[in-house]
Amino acid sequence: MNFEIQKLSLSRAIQAQLDALIVLWPSLTLPNPLAHDTVSRWVANAIEAGDFELKSGAVMTLYCQPGMVPRHVVVVCTAENKPGQVRSAVQSGWNALKSAKIKHLGLHVVGDATGQGIQLALSSLADASYSYTTTLSKPKSRLLKQVSVSAENSSAALEHAVRHSQALVAGVELAKEWANRPANHATPSHLAQAAKSIAKGSAFQCEVLGPKEVAKLGMGAFMAVAQGSAQPLRFIVMRYNGASATRAPVVLVGKGITFDTGGISIKPAPEMDEMKYDMGGAASVLGVFKALGQLRPAINVVGLIPATENMPDGLAVKPGDVVTSMSGQTIEILNTDAEGRLVLCDALTYAERFKPQAVIDIATLTGACVIALGAVRTGLFSSDDALASHLQQAGEDSGDTCWRMPLDEEYAEGLKTRFADVANVAGRAAGSVTAAKFLQRFSQNFAWAHLDIAGTAWRSGAAKGATGRPVGLLLQYLTEQAIRPSEFLADKPKAAKKVKSSKTTSRSVTPTKGRAVRQA
Ligand code: BES
Ligand code: MN
Ligand code: ZN
Repeated sequence: MNFEIQKLSLSRAIQAQLDALIVLWPSLTLPNPLAHDTVSRWVANAIEAGDFELKSGAVMTLYCQPGMVPRHVVVVCTAENKPGQVRSAVQSGWNALKSAKIKHLGLHVVGDATGQGIQLALSSLADASYSYTTTLSKPKSRLLKQVSVSAENSSAALEHAVRHSQALVAGVELAKEWANRPANHATPSHLAQAAKSIAKGSAFQCEVLGPKEVAKLGMGAFMAVAQGSAQPLRFIVMRYNGASATRAPVVLVGKGITFDTGGISIKPAPEMDEMKYDMGGAASVLGVFKALGQLRPAINVVGLIPATENMPDGLAVKPGDVVTSMSGQTIEILNTDAEGRLVLCDALTYAERFKPQAVIDIATLTGACVIALGAVRTGLFSSDDALASHLQQAGEDSGDTCWRMPLDEEYAEGLKTRFADVANVAGRAAGSVTAAKFLQRFSQNFAWAHLDIAGTAWRSGAAKGATGRPVGLLLQYLTEQAIRPSEFLADKPKAAKKVKSSKTTSRSVTPTKGRAVRQA
């Protein structure tokens, strides 16, 4: 899908060579009954007759009217232009055109267009017109090829928004694609191939580690999750260098559980199929890299993806097993279904070598976060106030919002155990916070944030599928850095802090003594 923008009045927009035109109309801009264009006169007359009101969700459709080139013209009210209102207006506009054959669509913004509004409108339109096709025998390809945005005003900011949206949509759709794919079409090796092909297309580096290299690094927690799977694990390292090598990178760590059965602590059967999106964090990292390759902002970013299945098996890790993480901390795995934190903790330790400005992990980590925040806002946990507020702001600006959650030390109480330095689960209470407290133990040496996307990366119900979140939030955060670098340098690497551990020096482990190790 290709996006472009033009400066046009509404009367010119309805003369453009388009199959359909969606007119986004805010409540406060009243139509002029004496206007030159037919649409304004229609809207004015309909309002006067009491047949139409400029309120949120109102839609009016016109078909093959004289004086208009597009066959379909749909007027939708964007109310006060709040993000949710723009999103639902675009959705209603597109739904009104659903059965029509639209290749070239116009999107006209009435009143003062803003970059943020255009980005929202374009990403909502892409979302509404997306459909998954990869594993269908007779896939229908997307008809919509071209979207021409028009507005009465024009500026560099609007052009920038269109360019940003183009890359954003490419990233979001890549993330959706991988999270939607069934687990037999999205194994750790498939994810690694995907990362390599994105890197190739965009000329940045991608390195993939397998079981041997990961064992050498001492990633005992990551390996414990993988040992029950016939699919070999992969540890994917992507490096985008858009700025000088002296600039500390932002490291993104994406949870890449390509299928989460729960392992020996097996999950109930209903809806277990949805656990194919347990690599939604990894998919969002791939999506961000895809977009970075198109936008080429002046920043450095590292992407890390620990990818494996979580399976029950004769070789699988058992409740009560104690493993040694790469950090040296020992972990008692009380519940094998709390596997995300186990793969992430070793990736977080690995992130230290990049001397990062900030490390952000993205994970479909807890059902408890779905209970706390639902599908609206991503859970944000951070030990660093500056980083947290940058991410919150990026969420608001992109419409891909998050909500900060607490990290009081008292929440870590339940992770204490007599048999290891830390247990991988606490009680049921505040489950998303205790999971974050676990990760925090491995993130002492840098500014760190954790995004729990269990609720936001997936849509349940009739329109079931991946959302591509939080690619929008992350891309906003990263591209802001290229525009205003000085503001972000406050998120500097922190001085190393000691982590409570009995043996912080032991860096290599023999993970599966006496047992077969599956290798690639
Ligand atoms: N992948 C799940 C979390 C999840 C649940 C994501 C629902 C999306 C929707 C994670 O690995 C998990 O199983 N977490 C457990 C943790 C518990 C055992 C402490 C959970 O949330 O139940
Ligand atoms: Mn799990
Ligand atoms: Zn999981």
